Amino acid sequence: MIVTVHGNRSDERPQFDGIYRRSPRKVSQLNGLDEPRRRDVVLRLLREARPYYPRLAVALVFGVIAGLGPLALSKAFPLVIDGVIGDPRHPIGLLLEVIAGVFAVNLISNLATYGQSYLTAWSGQRLIASLRSRLFERTMRMPMSEFDKWRPGEFVARFTNDLALMTDALSVALPQFFVTLVTLVGAVAAMLYVDWLLSLFLFVFAPIVNFVVAFFTRMISKSTKRSQERIADLSSNLTEVLAGERIVKAFGRESYENERFAASNDAYFGAYMKVLQLGQTQTPIVAMIVTIALLAIMAFSVREVIAGRLTSGQVLQFWTLVVFAINPLNRFAAFVGDISRGLIGASRVFEVLDVPIESDATDSIEPTRVAGALRFENVSFAYKADGPPILRDLSTTIEAGEIVALVGPSGAGKTTIVNLVPRFYEPQSGSISLDGIDLRRLHLGTLRAAIAIVPQEAMLFSGTVAENIRYGRLDATQAEVEAAAREANAEEFVLDLPLGYETPVGDRGMRLSGGQRQRISIARAVLRDPRILILDEATSALDSHSERLIEAALDRLLPGRTTLIIAHRLSTIRRAHTILYVDGGRILEAGTHDELLSRGGAYASLHAAQFAS
Ligand SMILES: Nc1ncnc2c1ncn2[C@@H]1O[C@H](COP(=O)(O)OP(=O)(O)O)[C@@H](O)[C@H]1O
Ligand SMILES: [Mg+2]
Repeated sequence: MIVTVHGNRSDERPQFDGIYRRSPRKVSQLNGLDEPRRRDVVLRLLREARPYYPRLAVALVFGVIAGLGPLALSKAFPLVIDGVIGDPRHPIGLLLEVIAGVFAVNLISNLATYGQSYLTAWSGQRLIASLRSRLFERTMRMPMSEFDKWRPGEFVARFTNDLALMTDALSVALPQFFVTLVTLVGAVAAMLYVDWLLSLFLFVFAPIVNFVVAFFTRMISKSTKRSQERIADLSSNLTEVLAGERIVKAFGRESYENERFAASNDAYFGAYMKVLQLGQTQTPIVAMIVTIALLAIMAFSVREVIAGRLTSGQVLQFWTLVVFAINPLNRFAAFVGDISRGLIGASRVFEVLDVPIESDATDSIEPTRVAGALRFENVSFAYKADGPPILRDLSTTIEAGEIVALVGPSGAGKTTIVNLVPRFYEPQSGSISLDGIDLRRLHLGTLRAAIAIVPQEAMLFSGTVAENIRYGRLDATQAEVEAAAREANAEEFVLDLPLGYETPVGDRGMRLSGGQRQRISIARAVLRDPRILILDEATSALDSHSERLIEAALDRLLPGRTTLIIAHRLSTIRRAHTILYVDGGRILEAGTHDELLSRGGAYASLHAAQFAS
């Protein structure tokens, strides 16, 4: 398990706990699915399925026909054995009638089976498709503070495995379960009619089978929950490593990652084997109980014939009915397993659907024009309610059109400050306002439409150059897209690309250089024509050529817009009207470059340290 590359240095050891975030707390609280919660999930599914009730009602009728149809065969035995074989006249006409009758009933019931399974499958799939869309929509609208609690793989697992569990349950197990149940009820009713005394056997054995099945169902349900968590771990691990492939290679951590994946894989193997093993234990146990029941019934039915209470035809009819009744008992175990796995999947899907989404206050204000004056008043903020405070009692006023540079050591809280402006997070106390309107009362769409963000790492989506620029404003014309690219100094390289603006950028823009990606990211912001522009170390990771081009683009872009710019280079910082020196979540100094230098404080020392020599 331990990868020792150079001796036994502890940093070469894979540490499976600790470094990597575990499942969010929420998930582990839900170990197993206890009874009241299972009922909630079922009730919720029933509510969700409401639009499909008319179809399901028709399916129900078809299901009853499909379930009762096969029982017709059992009625054939007394008719044929007692009425045709047993009758010295051997009326062949009756035999033909029975054959035709059983055939007709089975034809109808098989058509009904098709109708029933098609309608339920359709409704189930429609419901799952609608849940899938809502899952996606929820994920998109989740506040960052909630989003941060989940690993991406957790979402992926819910979209894939958990919905697949629901598919199996809703489209396969549930319809068959219903038909089988009808067959069972029909068979029992017919048995009571033929010989109620003999039928009592079923009432002795059925509760035993029921108890065994219920016991296993609970166990399977718990194990399924655990195995779904393990597969979520596995897919988290996978998405993370695939995104960081270059880092894995660069640090030579292939075997480390192999070990880590293998551990995840083993954990899933163990958890899933437990689920399978429980199912495999249940089947033979139920089968043994059923066999005992069958043998007992056989013995006692012989006694009934000898006593003259049953004919041979009725005995065969009864045995057939027993088989029709027992067969469902056997299959119920599998259906119930599938259905409870489906409920686990549903509960995990609902978990995401229940995360609160970003929403506007009912009396939210939607100004027609945004000027861009920002005001922070005594803002305090922590990423987690019980976590360390990141911003402490921070106040500042930024005029519309003012260019403000945020400087300060790494971890000071600069990114956090700009994160609060688009309301990615909400301050725990204090308030932020735009043009005098508290952000909490401002229509979120209007607020974000007024903002463009250029982060340090340009995030492009797979698609063409033009599509990525147009992400800033979806209705922009080709001419506007090209104008934005020119403004951002991106045109020179775009025109050299094989297909120009129609060149695909590759997954996450990987076919372009960092500087090229960043210029597209700036063109996207230009196209948005924002009132508030946020540049978070937008040029920090670039080569000096790209940086010069971007700086020149900024000269055209900044004037007239409220700009929050986080940067280290003097050339960028000097462009600002005001510099805020941030440390420890507070603004320690504020003023122009010259003012702060002459004050001889923290900014002056930073400046001296950076530009000494
Ligand atoms: N999403 C997050 N969840 C929890 N803590 C965070 C998150 N983002 C940043 N932090 C913490 O907040 C502090 C300030 O970070 P940040 O604002 O990114 O600093 P800066 O941009 O000045 O380097 C750091 O201690 C960092 O660890
Ligand atoms: Mg930062």
